[in-house]
Amino acid sequence: MKNRLAILFAASLLTVSSSAFGAPKAARSSADLILRVRNLFETWQALDPEKAAPFYAKDADLAFFDIAPLKYTGWTEYGEGVKKAFADFASLKLTVGNDLRATQRGNVAWTTATWQGQLFRKDGGNMAVEGRWTGVWEKRGKEWLLVHEHMSMPLPPPPAGQSLYTRLGGYDALAAVTDDFIGRLLGDKGLSRFFMGVGNDSRKRIRQLVVDQLCEATGGPCFYIGRTMKAAHQGLGITENDWKAAVDHLVATLEKFKVPQKEKDEVLAAISGLKADIITSAGSGGK
Ligand code: HEM
Repeated sequence: MKNRLAILFAASLLTVSSSAFGAPKAARSSADLILRVRNLFETWQALDPEKAAPFYAKDADLAFFDIAPLKYTGWTEYGEGVKKAFADFASLKLTVGNDLRATQRGNVAWTTATWQGQLFRKDGGNMAVEGRWTGVWEKRGKEWLLVHEHMSMPLPPPPAGQSLYTRLGGYDALAAVTDDFIGRLLGDKGLSRFFMGVGNDSRKRIRQLVVDQLCEATGGPCFYIGRTMKAAHQGLGITENDWKAAVDHLVATLEKFKVPQKEKDEVLAAISGLKADIITSAGSGGK
């Protein structure tokens, strides 16, 4: 809520009117425009749209983009909105960045700048805000007037990406996926031959090692302490066809657990890295 108010404040600062710092001067060049922008920002420090009003054209259909809400149409709506947004604030210190630029083409000009602000609430407390601002000006008579204004603040950085392990649902989800996958391998007549002489206890051991391996490979808090894939599958005679069948089972498992496409692709990419060490027979035997 505080942030939102701060944003509203900062946005309205960019808005309107005149007088605490004297009437705006006529602008005859880019240098005049720079001065006019500085006057505008200084004026907004009064938190009073009435004072900023002389800087703005009053055409009813002009668009003013404040930090919030999405859009104001016309100065009247803009001024009223900003007034409400500033209601809880006692004062504002606003500084225009050194990157302030003005470009003039005949009777039209545009100005850009970044800005920093410090908002002081009526109930105490203050907040620092910063953003960027674009003004489009038109010279009407002797004065440059804002016919469009765009105020924005950068979004906060996105939260750090979650590991694949977390996105898959953590340990229990990986264990369930592994059990389903191994169950499919054992139930496949073409692959069950590899596990013929592997007793229940050894199967449990392999299952646990696969869980640990997947957990570690997807960024989870586990360590795989089994043998290398090469050593574990050496001499088993696993062929390209066996591999394809196993991958199909894994895909079926991931689909059964409704793993989203992105995560599914990441799991399959991780597994495909093991292929060269697991295929130990050049033949295309198996199913
Ligand atoms: C066609 C596919 C595969 C077949 C037929 C297969 C078969 C086997 C067999 C029979 C063993 C027991 C070996 C032994 O103890 O002597 C084994 C071990 C193991 N496999 Fe596979 N495997 C396949 C794919 C995979 C994949 C995709 C993974 C990884 C996700 C994997 C991970 C493991 C692990 C961790 C072990 C235990 C290693 C150890 O004993 O230290 N395997 N595999």
